[in-house]
Amino acid sequence: MTDPRLLEERYGARNYHPLPVILSKGKGIWVYDIHGKKYMDLLSAYSAISHGHCHPRLLKVLQNQSQNICVTSRAFFNEKLGPLLKKLCELSHLDKALPMNSGAEAVETAIKAARRWGYTVKKIPENKAEIIVAKNNFHGRTTAIISFSSEQDYKKGFGPFLQGFVEVPYSSAEALEKAITPNTCAVLLEPMQGEAGIIIPPPGYLKKISEICKKNNVLLILDEIQTGLCRTGKMFAFEHENIVPDGVIIGKALGGGILPVSAFVTRTEVMDLFTPGSHGSTFGGSPLSAAVALEALLIMEEDHYAENSQKLGEYLLSELKKRNLPFIRDIRGKGLWIGVDFDPAKVSARKVCEKLMEKGILAKETHQTVVRIAPPLIITKEEVDLALSIWDDVMLTL
Ligand SMILES: Cc1ncc(COP(=O)(O)O)c(C=O)c1O
Repeated sequence: MTDPRLLEERYGARNYHPLPVILSKGKGIWVYDIHGKKYMDLLSAYSAISHGHCHPRLLKVLQNQSQNICVTSRAFFNEKLGPLLKKLCELSHLDKALPMNSGAEAVETAIKAARRWGYTVKKIPENKAEIIVAKNNFHGRTTAIISFSSEQDYKKGFGPFLQGFVEVPYSSAEALEKAITPNTCAVLLEPMQGEAGIIIPPPGYLKKISEICKKNNVLLILDEIQTGLCRTGKMFAFEHENIVPDGVIIGKALGGGILPVSAFVTRTEVMDLFTPGSHGSTFGGSPLSAAVALEALLIMEEDHYAENSQKLGEYLLSELKKRNLPFIRDIRGKGLWIGVDFDPAKVSARKVCEKLMEKGILAKETHQTVVRIAPPLIITKEEVDLALSIWDDVMLTL
């Protein structure tokens, strides 16, 4: 058999730099390579595998639903979508949800909704709407979204870019307030920045932003694609500050680690501006993805994912901080979402990930210096302790 890695390299685009491991099986927090070697998954497919791999309840729903009907398109109603939309609205304290597939599509949906609201409700002059975004944001990879990325690597060679985005420093409510103009329709933010290296803003930041947005008649739209669904110890990260945004973008773990499912959830006033034909997706809201996503949300609630994330996240963060190693510059996180920032003059984060892999842990670097730790939210205290002992072994070799 040809090495599958060689096939990917020969026939695929080189848009990722994977660790040299070929996975063929996953169960819970564990994955196995083609030689049967077992690894603890501390990346969870960039926070998409909160339920662990191949959760039996989700597989059952997938199998049952797939024997009835999988894809209908939104040309017709299906019996699974409504219950999912209702659940999404209840959980986010908002009114209406629009289903998509990938995270980036849901972000695009939010941008369109915000602009239409700006023109229709706020009466911003045509083509003048502005959306305020944060420096070092990450919201996906479409041409619209990279237009407001501050990362040159994401943009190089892909212009011309979309207009209408204003960048402000993250964590500064004052800078954000100053950037608001009569043409500002929305503020689009990650409540905590993931790809930037797990950046947690100071307490009170979101609350302040929420007040500023209300005062200035600007929509606050939070991208909770990574922070949402219990990852940071609450169902949504905005709950840490007792606010409700005007819109929330959900993805990743919504698909239960099985299917790509995302959604934009907002107030009626915003969502009702979409009219037939103004937005859509062939696969978004399919009965198969809706059935799996609803079950994924029910499991999170019934099995107390938020509590586990909060409790074990605090424990893991405090244990990691105790280690006090000279080549680590910072350790930060919320819930089971932790970034360990290595001093690049001493060790590369990629090297750390390679060494962790040798010892049976899969993790991935972001921005050359940060190793992110984001295990499935079903992880137990014993498994966290096991991860820590492997971590210690690897740290000794650096
Ligand atoms: C905050 C945030 N927004 C959007 C995205 C894009 O999601 P997707 O890769 O499903 O398009 C990501 C992916 O990492 C993300 O972390």
